[in-house]
Amino acid sequence: MTKAVGIDIGGTGIKGAVIDADTGELLTERIKLDTPKGGEPDDIVKVVVEIVDQLKVEKDVPVGVCFPAIIIKGKTMSAANVSKKWIGLEAEKLFEKALGRDIRFVNDADAAGVAEVRYGAAKDVDGVVILTTLGTGIGSALIYNSVLVPNTELGHLEVEGKDAEKKASYSAKERDDLSYKEWAKRLQKYYSVVEALFSPDLFIVGGGVSKSWEEFLPLLELHAPIVPAKLRNNAGILGAAALAVRQEAPATNPAETALADPR
Ligand code: BGC
Repeated sequence: MTKAVGIDIGGTGIKGAVIDADTGELLTERIKLDTPKGGEPDDIVKVVVEIVDQLKVEKDVPVGVCFPAIIIKGKTMSAANVSKKWIGLEAEKLFEKALGRDIRFVNDADAAGVAEVRYGAAKDVDGVVILTTLGTGIGSALIYNSVLVPNTELGHLEVEGKDAEKKASYSAKERDDLSYKEWAKRLQKYYSVVEALFSPDLFIVGGGVSKSWEEFLPLLELHAPIVPAKLRNNAGILGAAALAVRQEAPATNPAETALADPR
């Protein structure tokens, strides 16, 4: 068993759990606290520290944190659904200082993509896989033969002159009080654009709403199959934790090495 902690910071909630990175099983209950209003760095860091404290893990257990922004060498380079103060911030260092330990820090959708490759719907799938998370925003992970291309940000593709996530995210469905059928029309436009640009072999849909996938995925007409994420809303936690383990102990098995290192 390889214990690791995964923390998934989202626009509305921050979740964490201890997992077994060998199997992708959760070893503890998932702790979920609200994302502080405004999504300011110091407030989010405090909640992450609180969750890690509550998980009560030894100091040598690797910790992975995923975050809803472009992440380059530990810096957050965008901020669509959190405070703009994150832009250009040495965020990884900020978390490490507050937690008193090293962490692995990655984009949330990339973490979800890595988890689906390792434990879920993208496992052993050849070719191009695109995972999207439908939540407060739309996140994306682009995977080719199990290797992740990090920071793709396909939720910000322009569709009919608008930032796609503003119309097609799950929060847009809620904001505009759309039925699944109405929302599916917007999703159809979005996924058709993604398909025209990337010709994936498989689409995977994650985010909390993926548990209700039967309500909307069958309404979409695409060339590629479109399936719900196997790990549902735990993919971010699992992927961040799995990557934290890989950072500590680089894999020797070539199949494992193929799992991308999003840095
Ligand atoms: C952000 C992405 C993130 C996605 C899902 C988008 O608004 O730009 O970085 O992956 O939301 O949280």
